[in-house]
Amino acid sequence: MPAKDNVNIAPPEGKLGVLIPGMGAVTSTFVAGVEAVKAGWALPIGSLTQMGTIRLGKRTEGRSPKIKDFVPLAEPQDLVIGGWDIFEDNAYEAALKAGVLDRAHVERLKEPLSAIKPMKAVFDHDYVRRLDGPHVKQGGSKMDKARMLMDDIEQFRKSTGASRLVMIWCGSTEVHHEPTEVHQTIENFERGLEKNDPNIAPSQIYAYAALKMGIPHANGAPNLTTDVPALVELARRNQVPICGKDFKTGQTLMKTIVAPGLKARMLGLTGWYSTNILGNRDGEVLDDPASFRTKEVTKLSVLEYILQPELYPELYKDFYHVVRINYYPPRGDAKEGWDNIDIFGWMGYPMQIKINFLCRDSILAAPLVLDLVLFLDLAQRAGMKGIQEWLSFYFKAPMTAPGLYPEHDIFIQLMKLKNTLRWMRGEDLITHLGLEYYD
Ligand SMILES: NC(=O)c1ccc[n+]([C@@H]2O[C@H](COP(=O)([O-])OP(=O)(O)OC[C@H]3O[C@@H](n4cnc5c(N)ncnc54)[C@H](O)[C@@H]3O)[C@@H](O)[C@H]2O)c1
Repeated sequence: MPAKDNVNIAPPEGKLGVLIPGMGAVTSTFVAGVEAVKAGWALPIGSLTQMGTIRLGKRTEGRSPKIKDFVPLAEPQDLVIGGWDIFEDNAYEAALKAGVLDRAHVERLKEPLSAIKPMKAVFDHDYVRRLDGPHVKQGGSKMDKARMLMDDIEQFRKSTGASRLVMIWCGSTEVHHEPTEVHQTIENFERGLEKNDPNIAPSQIYAYAALKMGIPHANGAPNLTTDVPALVELARRNQVPICGKDFKTGQTLMKTIVAPGLKARMLGLTGWYSTNILGNRDGEVLDDPASFRTKEVTKLSVLEYILQPELYPELYKDFYHVVRINYYPPRGDAKEGWDNIDIFGWMGYPMQIKINFLCRDSILAAPLVLDLVLFLDLAQRAGMKGIQEWLSFYFKAPMTAPGLYPEHDIFIQLMKLKNTLRWMRGEDLITHLGLEYYD
C-alpha cells in the first residue's frame, strides 16, 4: 500500500522565480549550469536534488528512487532567474569576469546569460568596504529601499509570469556585526528601517522585503541577515521558510567530512591549521579584516560542535584551531586550501594528516544554490515555516532555533534531510537499527 503523506504538498505548477541579490561568481556559475542542464549538455553534478537517491523501507525491498521522483520538486526547466548587483554586468559579462568557466562554455550560453540583467542594488559601503559600484538605488530611508525592492520583485513576477518565488543571497560577505536592539522585534526592526538605523545591513533589507511578501529566503554568505529574532519572527508570522548561513564548500566541507570520522574512531586532536589562497572578488572582499571576521566566526565553530570537547576532554580539550584566507589574485576562483591536522592515537602517539584541496569554489557552490531553491520551494508548498534545520547540510553555520546547538556533522545532516523527506511522504524513518539479531 502506498504511504500516506504526513503533510499536504501543493504541486509545483508554473514557473519558479529565483531572486538573487549579488550576481558574481557563484550566481553566474549557477545560472550557466542551469542553462547547460536545460539544454541537455551538462549534468547537475553535486546536486542532491537532481542526482541523489533515497532509500525507502527495508533494504530487502530495493526501493531507492531519485529524490526528485520521490518529492514533488520544481524542475530546472521551470526556473526563471533575476537578481540585483551594484555593477551593471549581465550574467554573461559576470561569468566572463568571474573566470570560473571556460570561455567556450560561456560563449555557448551567451544568449540566455545576457538576458539576465541585474536590477539596481541596495548597497552600503560601510558593510562591504572593498567594493563600490554605480548600479545602486539612491535616496530615501531604508524602509523606502525595502519598498523599492518589493516593487522590483512585483515587476519580476509580472514580467516572468512566475507563480512562486524564492530569494537566495549570493552577495558579498558583509562586515561582522552583532544583533542589537533593532533586531529584537519586528516592530523595532520596522522603526529602524524608517529611521535608517545603521545596524540594519543591506542583506537584511532584501530579506525583509522577501519575508514581507511571503517569499522563502536562503543566505549563502555568513552575514547575520535573517539570523536575528525580528526576521525569524517575521518568517514564522508570514508562514515563510528560511535557512542559512554560508554555503558549505571547500575547506569546511572537507572538515565536516573528516572530523566526524576521527571522532567516530575516538582519535584525538591537538591542532588543525587551515589556510587558503583565492583570488576572486570574494577573496578581495575577505581581505578586509572586518569581512573576514564574519567568515572566521562561521569557520571556527565547526570543529567545536562536531568534536564535543566537553564530552571527550581527553581527546579534544584545548585543540588549536587556526583558519586563514589570503587574497592572491593570480589564482582567481581556483582556490587552494591546505589543512595540517595533528592527531593522536593509541597510547597518545602523534600522527599527521595533510589535505591539499585544489577546489573551484563556485563549482562547489552552484549545485547548492539549485538544491536550496528547490527545497525551500518544496518546504513552502508543504506549509513549513521559520528556520529549516533539515537544510543544515548546505551550510557552514546552520541557523537553529534558540537554545539548540547547530549540527555540523555532514552525515547526521544528510540523515536529517532525508528523514525529513521520508516524513513528509509518510515513509518510515531510517534508523539503521538491525533487529534481526533477536529473531
Ligand atoms: N564556494 C563559494 O563560492 C562560497 C562558499 C560559501 C559562501 N560564499 C559566499 O557567497 C557570496 C558570493 O560569492 P561569490 O564568489 O559569488 O562572490 P562575488 O564577489 O563574485 O559576487 C558577489 C556579488 O555581490 C555583489 N554585491 C555586493 N553587495 C551587494 C548588495 N548589497 N546588493 C547586490 N549585490 C551586491 C558584488 O558586486 C558581487 O558582484 C559571498 O558572500 C561568499 O562569501 C561563497
